[in-house]
Order: sequence, then C-alpha cells, then structure tokens
Amino acid sequence: MRIDILTLFPSMFDGFLNESIIKRAIDKKLVEINVINFRDYSLDPHHKVDDTPYGGGAGMVLTPQPIMDAVDDIKTKESRVILLTPDGKRYNQQMAYDLSQEKHLIIICGHYEGFDDRIRSIVDIELSIGDYVLTGGEIPSMVIADSITRLLDGVIDKDSHLNDSFNNNLLDYPTYTKPRVYRGMEVPSVLLSGNHAEIEKYRQQEALKRTRDRRPDLLEK
Ligand code: ADE
Repeated sequence: MRIDILTLFPSMFDGFLNESIIKRAIDKKLVEINVINFRDYSLDPHHKVDDTPYGGGAGMVLTPQPIMDAVDDIKTKESRVILLTPDGKRYNQQMAYDLSQEKHLIIICGHYEGFDDRIRSIVDIELSIGDYVLTGGEIPSMVIADSITRLLDGVIDKDSHLNDSFNNNLLDYPTYTKPRVYRGMEVPSVLLSGNHAEIEKYRQQEALKRTRDRRPDLLEK
C-alpha cells in the first residue's frame, strides 16, 4: 500500500513517520508513506497557493492549480483520492478496513479558510474525522493513515485488531496485567482461573455491558 499525503506543512509528519508502529511498518516496507508539499507544484512566480475569496469574506482560500496539478502528477489507475474536510463523510473503522484494501491513496490536506470548490471535481471520497473544525487536514490525514496502516498484513498481530473496539459494533472488553492487586483493586478472578471458555464468556459479557453503557447507538446498528 502506498499513501501520498499532499500538505503545505510536511514537517508536521516528522514524529508520526519516525516513531513506533508506523516507523516499523515503513522500515519493513509494509507501507510506503510519502509527504508531498503541494506548494512545489505552484506555477505562481512566488509559489503562492492561496488567494482571497470571490464574493468577499474572511481569510484566504487554497487555489485549485497546485493541488490539482499535484494529483494529476501522482495519480495512477489504482489511486483513490481523498479530501479531508469537516463537511466530508464521517470516518469510521469500517472505512479504515475498506481503505486498507486499496493499493494507492492520495490524501489532500486542506488549510486556511478552505479550498476552491473545484478541487472536489478530482476527489473520490471526502472524509471528516469528526464534528469539530481543526486548523487543517494534517492531523486528520495522520488519523486516517494510522488507522489504515495498523490493519495491513504484518503490521500488528492479526488477533490484536480482530479484538479491536468497533469490530462487530462492540467496544473492547476490559484488560488487566500485573500486579494482581493494585491500590486495593483486584483483577477479576475469572481471568486467573485458566478456564478459557469462562474467560471468553466473561469478555463477551463485559464488551456487551460496556457498549450498552457507553455507546448504545452501536447496538442499534
Ligand atoms: N479539516 C478541518 N477539520 C477537519 C475534520 N474534522 N475532519 C477532516 N478534515 C478537517
């Protein structure tokens, strides 16, 4: 899987790409993530990428040329082009699974007050990571690249993501590690019993209980 991220702020990705599971996935060539500064595609003599909005209004708007030329340059028949915007479709775990099957994603990070609406004409999917407005698409693009990368074969143990929250519309069951008693709080005894059928039953019940308490909307699905 290759993920190309178009941004005006490439250094925001330094930590993301150089730590932990994402770094290991890149090193093992399980994913290729390229961060591309679309300012490099600007045909303006001063490499301008934004301008004032037609009709007036506050702030600057990203012009279509640098982004659309960058996409034309890197797009292949196998590419899916994603635009990050608060008015996109709300992202979820099922979309992460679906996108993890793709070969090439191009993710466009918007910034400033917005982007020229004509950019939408070259986009396959518009995504929002939630009902709040961020200063740009960089953090959402990391959210999406991270959630997809961890699902790729060999990145993490398959059992780990089979038990993820949101699989089967259930939240995760509670987990514990050593010590057995901490600040007076004991690990549930069934987990120490060695009875795998009972442990499985306990975990299913707890997952259901947690979902009912915290996210009853998931059970209605
Ligand atoms: N850009 C700004 N806010 C965003 C959000 N919530 N989701 C995706 N892109 C965004």
